[in-house]
Amino acid sequence: MTTTPNAPSAPVPYDPPAQQAYPQDVWPTSARPGPHGDMTVGGVSLSEAAGRFGTPLYLLDEGEVRDRCRTYRAAFPPEEADVVYAAKAFLSRAVVRWIREEGLGLDVCSAGELLLAVGAGFPADRIVLHGNAKSPEDLGTAVRLGVGRIVLDSTSEIVRLAALVPHGTRRPVMIRAVPGISAGGHAAVRTGTDDQKFGLSLMDGSAQHAIDRVLGRPELELVGLHCHIGSQITSITPYVAALRRMVGLLARTRDKHGVVLPELDMGGGHGIAYRAGEPALDIPALASRLRAELASGCARSMLPVPRLTVEPGRAVIGPAGIAVYRVLAVKRTGTRIFVAVDGGMSDNPRPALYGVRYAPRLVGRASTAPGLLTTVVGRHCEAGDILAEAVELPGDVHPGDLLAVPAAGAYHLSMASGYNLVGRPPVVAVSDGTARLLVRRESLDDLRRRDIGA
Ligand code: LLP
Repeated sequence: MTTTPNAPSAPVPYDPPAQQAYPQDVWPTSARPGPHGDMTVGGVSLSEAAGRFGTPLYLLDEGEVRDRCRTYRAAFPPEEADVVYAAKAFLSRAVVRWIREEGLGLDVCSAGELLLAVGAGFPADRIVLHGNAKSPEDLGTAVRLGVGRIVLDSTSEIVRLAALVPHGTRRPVMIRAVPGISAGGHAAVRTGTDDQKFGLSLMDGSAQHAIDRVLGRPELELVGLHCHIGSQITSITPYVAALRRMVGLLARTRDKHGVVLPELDMGGGHGIAYRAGEPALDIPALASRLRAELASGCARSMLPVPRLTVEPGRAVIGPAGIAVYRVLAVKRTGTRIFVAVDGGMSDNPRPALYGVRYAPRLVGRASTAPGLLTTVVGRHCEAGDILAEAVELPGDVHPGDLLAVPAAGAYHLSMASGYNLVGRPPVVAVSDGTARLLVRRESLDDLRRRDIGA
């Protein structure tokens, strides 16, 4: 996650979208140039979809999501590993079905995500529950539905969970350890070191203490250890370092308690490109390196190789999503040209939260006008509502134009807000030339209905 410094708007030759390739590190594999500057994804025209469903609009390429699941399944074969999709990236009932059909598990972090998934037919025993502060409702629902793994994040949670387990039964749990490895695209998403709220420290002995406590509870069955070092990580190195420390903890648990834990969950955090040319984590390379390190580390410690789990969210769904906005205003101030669209920080808070910048492009119209460097902004009442900086758009960009933003599938709508009562955009699945509404637009009526005071 990097920011581009403000750039003055200088004329540059503009290459109309129809003649450009769609760099597949940011656009779905199915993206194709359409007639008159249009683009199709999953065989669906972006401008037709914008006309039919309105803007702002989020498209999800179902084939891209499924392909990405298959890449993970091939890299982490089911005989020795589990791939668990992190629902926090984006969840809807259709996504639950795609994930189930592709053979992945599901990571949830609230009763809400859990109930939506189980209600849509996801088997509870393939669900992992996370959270640094699980509510009584989260824990109670997980126990009642029989989720596959509850990942304990604090010592107080051990007692709280044990108290909920029906007499004479046991629940499978893991302990989230903090391995002391710093990684991730922004301080807000680095979770591998002791200066943040998640997990139990491996460095100060808290993780070991939690293991002792859990092993002493007959209601809880400790099946393994978990770590999640951060998000938007594009290098394999920190995963390898974390894995070595986690294997060390498995070995110390065996030495101290004579208990061999059968599972190791290395979390998610696999980074993607948001703009052409940015790095993304190489999933097959990660898989072969992790599996090799696990085998050699376990051999050195004379441990059997535990079953490995990874929990990708962004890398499964991020690149499958496209946001489509309509331009509402174009304004020249000083040296900058602001292009304002009909969405912004209420549907995508990531630029405001992490300083990320996106790469929108004009779709639905060809232009031969020379290109200009523009700043693409949202419609919300904050100067920080900036989607993209120094983006080349044709010099005749005007209200009514459509802009498409790639890599919009993860952590946009799942983090959307009701700011300025704009209403959250719809989500439409595209596949084989058809567009299907998954989540409808939030209407003023929806928003008004919750406001019951007089
Ligand atoms: N497992 C655990 C325990 C997690 O906390 C997370 C993400 C994941 C897996 C999936 O991480 P992913 O593969 O999607 O990076 N809102 C931020 C990202 C927050 C990630 C939170 N935890 C963003 O928009 O960049």
